[in-house]
Amino acid sequence: MDGKPLDNDLSGVVEADRAHVWHHLIQHAGWTGPDAKADPRIIVEGKGMRVWDQHGKEHLDAVSGGVWTVNVGYGRERIANAVRDQLLKLNYFAGTAGSIPGAKFSEKLISKMPGMSRVYFTNSGTEANEKAFKMVRQIAHKRYGGKKYKILYRDRDYHGSSIAAISAGGQDQRGEQYGPFVPGFVRVPHCMEYRAQWDLEGEEYGLAAANAIEEVILAEGPDTVGALCLEPVTAGGGVITPPPGYWPRVQEICRKYDILLHIDEVVCGVGRTGTEWFGYQHYGVEPDFVTMAKGVASGYAAIACCVTNEKVFDMFQDDTSDPLNYFRDISTFGGCTAGPAAALENLAIIEEEGLLENTTKMGDYMLDQLRALKDKHKVIGDVRGKGLFLGAELVADRSTKEPAQEKMVQAVAGDCNAQGVIIGVMNRSVPGFNNTLCYSPALIATKDDIDQIIEATDKALTKVFG
Ligand SMILES: Cc1ncc(COP(=O)(O)O)c(C=O)c1O
Repeated sequence: MDGKPLDNDLSGVVEADRAHVWHHLIQHAGWTGPDAKADPRIIVEGKGMRVWDQHGKEHLDAVSGGVWTVNVGYGRERIANAVRDQLLKLNYFAGTAGSIPGAKFSEKLISKMPGMSRVYFTNSGTEANEKAFKMVRQIAHKRYGGKKYKILYRDRDYHGSSIAAISAGGQDQRGEQYGPFVPGFVRVPHCMEYRAQWDLEGEEYGLAAANAIEEVILAEGPDTVGALCLEPVTAGGGVITPPPGYWPRVQEICRKYDILLHIDEVVCGVGRTGTEWFGYQHYGVEPDFVTMAKGVASGYAAIACCVTNEKVFDMFQDDTSDPLNYFRDISTFGGCTAGPAAALENLAIIEEEGLLENTTKMGDYMLDQLRALKDKHKVIGDVRGKGLFLGAELVADRSTKEPAQEKMVQAVAGDCNAQGVIIGVMNRSVPGFNNTLCYSPALIATKDDIDQIIEATDKALTKVFG
């Protein structure tokens, strides 16, 4: 489309959608209820940083496909060609066997992840996390008489949409009405300094937040805790960057109590935070599990991975005479070859186009611009993020930090959208605190793109908050 008006009538598509498609994460009343005033949104085409809807309206996508996914931007012919060629050669075989793109991609991925060694292919971030949870449970049975089965997760983190993943979720609104939940998941406090839980600052705050994890471990009994699952930078829970001192202490605590460290890189992974391939790599963390999904193939094919180190892998190989002594799991579509074929090209694009460097440069620029907006709009209480993964928390009062009203925060995103810029906002996540605007433009973003996003936000904030 490239901005040209549509030459075919999509009204039939809109009606088919209205009648039959169940959209994700959104109420349908706007287009199916008795008071419906609008049509469902259909995204028709994308190129680079931009998408076009059914009306031919162009949008600058500041959230990479709505949910921080399309890291290399839309319309990448070389990914499409690689997928096409692979599908014609071999589209699928169950993961009991290997595939050419699966092996090549695993080798390339592991070359970016020193200390890690094995890639387990799945379809979604939720599923990748579920695989890690299952491995932890099986290790507990194999090594600790079933006792070391608990998995710690953090307040405000998110690990997926299944019942087990919601049980490991620190965003209470996502869980509302979906209980009862799976036992064995235990919450630890978040590490967000802006909403401090201890009267400390900087490194002292980071140490206190990590020590709070140790307190939970001691209360539960270290011999019952198998793993700790954390996002390196919390995404949908408010774009929370860790305070200094946090990660080294977290690592130390895990080692002290023989607790496996599971890093959920579903959002941060594959370049989003700039300079490094993965979020945890900024903090010198040595994980046992790394799960990833969204940016792995930038949404050109469904692929997710649960990556482990050899220590974890070896725990499943120690007694080959035991017929149950291996990871007895399958993900049917983990055997689709389109995923690794697309992911290989995705990594190559990031390397060849220097997108890790661009992400750092543009991320720093955008952070500065958001800080300038904070100087101008007192409704911005805090600005945070890393690379092209940024958030602006809106407050009704800077001194009390009372969150801005959710519907007004939503209105800012709505106004940006009307201006042709799609930004994100926390959505039914943390009760009373869905007040952070989220930005995750593709890693190809230019200064002009960032300026357009900032300008739209500036105008929207003025319109909604004055
Ligand atoms: C940090 C994190 N983990 C896991 C998931 C779940 O991924 P998926 O929707 O692919 O199941 C998400 C999705 O937003 C996420 O943000």
